[in-house]
Amino acid sequence: MSASIALITGASSGIGREAALALAAQGTTVYAGARRPMPDLEKRGIHTLTLDVTDEASLQAAVDQVIAEAGRVDILVNNAGYGSYGAIEDTPLAEARRQFEVNVFGAIRLTQLVLPHMTTQGYGRIVNVSSLGGRFSMALGGWYHATKYALEALSDALRQEVRPFGVDVVLIEPGLIHTNWARIAAEHLKTTSGLGKYAAIATNFAAALQFAAEFATDPAVIGRAIARAALAKRPRTRYLQGPGSRAALVAATILPDRLVDYGLRLALQHMGDLLDLLHSDSKRTV
Ligand SMILES: NC(=O)c1ccc[n+]([C@@H]2O[C@H](COP(=O)([O-])OP(=O)(O)OC[C@H]3O[C@@H](n4cnc5c(N)ncnc54)[C@H](OP(=O)(O)O)[C@@H]3O)[C@@H](O)[C@H]2O)c1
Repeated sequence: MSASIALITGASSGIGREAALALAAQGTTVYAGARRPMPDLEKRGIHTLTLDVTDEASLQAAVDQVIAEAGRVDILVNNAGYGSYGAIEDTPLAEARRQFEVNVFGAIRLTQLVLPHMTTQGYGRIVNVSSLGGRFSMALGGWYHATKYALEALSDALRQEVRPFGVDVVLIEPGLIHTNWARIAAEHLKTTSGLGKYAAIATNFAAALQFAAEFATDPAVIGRAIARAALAKRPRTRYLQGPGSRAALVAATILPDRLVDYGLRLALQHMGDLLDLLHSDSKRTV
C-alpha cells in the first residue's frame, strides 16, 4: 500500500523515534505520540501528538486527530513502555499496576480505538513492540516480563480475531537495545530493591544492565524492522531482533528450567566482579 497513515506511541526517544523516522523515510505519513514534545521530529515533517497512554482522553484525542486530519489510520505501532524492575516481593502493587497500565492496557485501549476504523476500511496493521523478555522471564524483571508475556498472548488472540477483517497483528521482540530503557529499568531496580535482602543482586544487575546497554543494538535497527513489519505485504507474526536473541531463546526453551535458573543465578551473583574487572581493564587501556 502507498502513502499509509501510521500512529506510533512512545516516539519521543529510542525505538519509537527511530520507527517514526524509518516509516517516514518510506513515504508513510507519521503521527508520533509521546508525553514529551518532539520538535526534532516535527522539523522532519512528522506530525506530533501529546499522548499519555494511561489517559483515556489523551488516547481518544490522538485517534480523533489522526482521523480528522488524515481520514484513516492504516498502521498502529504500540511502542510506549518502560521496565519496572525490582524483586516481586519488593514491588508495590500500585507500581505493578502502573507497569501494566503503560505496557499493556495503554496499547490495547489504543488498539480498541483504531480497530473500528481499520475493520471498516478492510485494512490495517497493528505492530506491538514486545521483547525477547516476552518469551522468557528473569529474576528482578518479573513484572516487566509479565507485561510483555501478556502483550504476546493478547497479540496472538487478536491476530486470529481480526484477520477476517483485513487487519494483521505483528510482534517485534528486541533483545537489549541502546536506548533510555536500561537506565530507567536500573533506576526502578535500585529504588525498589536497592536495600534489603535482594540488594546485592539488584545492585549488580542494575550496573550490568546499564553497562551492557552501552554496547547494545542501535535502536535504528529496530526502527527499520518495525517499518518492514508495518509495510510488508505478508509480514511475519514475530520479528525476534538483536544478536544472541535466538540463541538465548533456544537455550531458555530447550534446557531444563532448573539449569537455566542456576545459570542466571550464578550470572547475577558474579556480575559485580565481572563489571569491576571490565571497568579496571578499560581504565588500564585509557
Ligand atoms: N531498549 C531495550 O533494550 C528494549 C528491549 C526490548 C523491548 N523494548 C521495548 O521497546 C519499547 C520502547 O522502549 P525504548 O527502548 O525505546 O525506551 P525509551 O527510549 O525509554 O522510550 C520509551 C518511550 O515510551 C514513552 N512512554 C513511556 N511512558 C509513556 C506513557 N505513559 N505514555 C506515552 N508514552 C510513554 C516515552 O515517551 P515519554 O516519556 O515522552 O512519554 C518514550 O518515548 C518499550 O515498549 C520497551 O519495553 C526495549
